[in-house]
Amino acid sequence: MEDYLKWQERILDLIIPRLKNTGSICWQVGNFVDNGMIIPLDIEMAYIFKKHGLKLRNRIIWHFGHGLHNKRRFSGRYEVVMWYSKTDDYQFDLDPVRVPAKYPGKRHFKGPKKGKLSGNPLGKNPEDVWNIPNVKANHVEKTDHPCQFPVGLIEKLVLSMTKPGQLVFDPFAGVGSSGVAAALHKRHFLGCELISNYARQAKERIDEALAGKARYRPHDKELYDHTKSKLSQAVLPEDEGVEGT
Ligand SMILES: C[S@@+](CC[C@H](N)C(=O)[O-])C[C@H]1O[C@@H](n2cnc3c(N)ncnc32)[C@H](O)[C@@H]1O
Repeated sequence: MEDYLKWQERILDLIIPRLKNTGSICWQVGNFVDNGMIIPLDIEMAYIFKKHGLKLRNRIIWHFGHGLHNKRRFSGRYEVVMWYSKTDDYQFDLDPVRVPAKYPGKRHFKGPKKGKLSGNPLGKNPEDVWNIPNVKANHVEKTDHPCQFPVGLIEKLVLSMTKPGQLVFDPFAGVGSSGVAAALHKRHFLGCELISNYARQAKERIDEALAGKARYRPHDKELYDHTKSKLSQAVLPEDEGVEGT
């Protein structure tokens, strides 16, 4: 853990001075699991950002539906995106990522705005817990990378924190999911990736996105309703007993 944190610190020490005053850093981390004990990496890493005077705007909880089943603790189903800005003058636009309001027809019932719609007609703030399917075997974005991010997760960050023509940088680009999100929305992209096979796939995916042929799950696509599946309706015969987790 000590070596890992020092390594991450060296990278962030290089990146943060190069960030624009209006820019943001989104650092996505999970929990390190050590013999069944969890170590939340966002807590462990917070000192690095603090040292540079960055301002934490949200700990976005990326919640997903699939993963390992645990027997001795609750199964882990989230990772964290630490969103930091460099200054108070950070770029942020909610409108491209608004979600449908719960009660779009709700109106002010008193005061000077009485009778007028009370919510934003473009929708509501998407809040800081995002339920986005992780990229498992049957996901439209799946490549042979073992832990790629869904494009939709990064799309929300790109749309709200950058404008067309600006630069998105991913120092751990993998198969280029952030590059795809950038290309889809006319942002420039720069990425680093150690493994040439992943870098090659990243380039292919970005080229597809630039050509309007990206295979991806948009951030605003509705979640699959598993209750409609035949498997959800299956009734177990009594003699099959109870085994799973
Ligand atoms: C969690 S994956 C990121 C996956 C990526 N978000 C995607 O959706 O494809 C981390 C990636 O960082 C790469 N990596 C690890 N150390 C690196 C380094 N020092 N420089 C560049 N890439 C590195 C790994 O090969 C791996 O593909």
